[in-house]
Amino acid sequence: MKHRIPTYLSAATIAAALLTVSACGGGSSSAGPDEKQLEVFSWWTSGSEDAALKDLIAGFTKDNPGVKVVNGAVAGGGGGNAQAVLQTRLQGSNPPDTWQTHPGAAIGQYIDSGLLADLSSVYKQDSLNSAIPRELVASVGKDGKTYGVSTGAHRGNVLWFNKKLTAKAGVKLSASTTPDQFVDALGKLKDKGITPLCLGGKDAFATAELFENILLGAVGVSGWDSLTAGKTDWTDAKVRQAAELFAKMLPYADPDASALTWDQATKRLAAGDCAVESMGDWAYGELLKNGAKDGADFGYVPQPGTNGNFVTVVDTFVVAENAKHKEQALKWASAISSPEVQLAFSKDKGSTPIRRDVPIDSLPAYQQRAATSFRSDALVLSIVHGEAMSPQFQQSFYDAVTQFVQSKKVDSFVQALATAAKG
Ligand code: GAL
Repeated sequence: MKHRIPTYLSAATIAAALLTVSACGGGSSSAGPDEKQLEVFSWWTSGSEDAALKDLIAGFTKDNPGVKVVNGAVAGGGGGNAQAVLQTRLQGSNPPDTWQTHPGAAIGQYIDSGLLADLSSVYKQDSLNSAIPRELVASVGKDGKTYGVSTGAHRGNVLWFNKKLTAKAGVKLSASTTPDQFVDALGKLKDKGITPLCLGGKDAFATAELFENILLGAVGVSGWDSLTAGKTDWTDAKVRQAAELFAKMLPYADPDASALTWDQATKRLAAGDCAVESMGDWAYGELLKNGAKDGADFGYVPQPGTNGNFVTVVDTFVVAENAKHKEQALKWASAISSPEVQLAFSKDKGSTPIRRDVPIDSLPAYQQRAATSFRSDALVLSIVHGEAMSPQFQQSFYDAVTQFVQSKKVDSFVQALATAAKG
């Protein structure tokens, strides 16, 4: 599949995002090419994301003490705003030195546009090819070259729950809970006067992620692969079934959802203001950051219907071929790949280190389990995070979900997805 720089972003989205970036003080670095500086562009601004990003920066600064790191993070979970700003900068030939992306189609769009530096020399110098599973290296490369370094693998299909609230409603969630039992559980929570479903609907990705997780439960791994490869039509009965389940769950969402970001929704779960959240395991880092205790305050199960499946969301950094500070950016790629930095990062972020030689016994029990699942489960790539399908489809997926939240019209929803997939 050929990936292009998406042109779907409206002027209003870009303008809003640019406002965000100037408000954060991030954005393009003003230093000239000779100055010892490095701009790191990401969307990591929640409490746990920011802490994990600072672990990467600390790892770089330790080896490169004279270099000033400009944190160009643009707020907006899942990168909604950051992507808009990035596209504008790339179109204006003003790339950040290094930016955050994901493997597969997400990085593919930049590779195919010739925007990325080949990082093969970093892989060679740091022996990364032997430390990182071959498929992961392949997912950030093309034609024998490697263009990204990954910091960690997140699991996208996790259901987090507040233990006191589920106990109060007599709700038991386990790895074998079925999607229908889950809908019943939401009803039981509501009957007790509890807000059942935590949702950070202000971040478009959060509602899309809920649907992505329901969809995987309905179609299974082979169905997922077939849909994302264009072999199954999106009007298929199982996609419709997922849409119907989604429609049953949405009325249980927090009435404030549209005003909340994903991390604010997670904070509500920690505080006992809502009961369950379908969210990638960056929520784990955020729950701990909010002082919630694993096992005592919250628990987790795979999204009902997806036990044994692992939606991989692999955080990855690339270096601009025309970076203003390319030498520093290549050093960044090396520094953030080291076992020590990957471990420190994972502890704050909630992800699984992708290097096989990082000792995981110092990680909390949840992350050790996620690491085991990562090695043994059936892995699928995320649509919501741009890995499995083109950025254009990703955007259409978000748009279709947004429409569906309002209309609940299954026919129009699957038709919109089917049309988008035919591109
Ligand atoms: C994902 C990213 C995660 C997390 C999440 C929410 O795209 O891979 O690391 O940050 O967005 O912002």
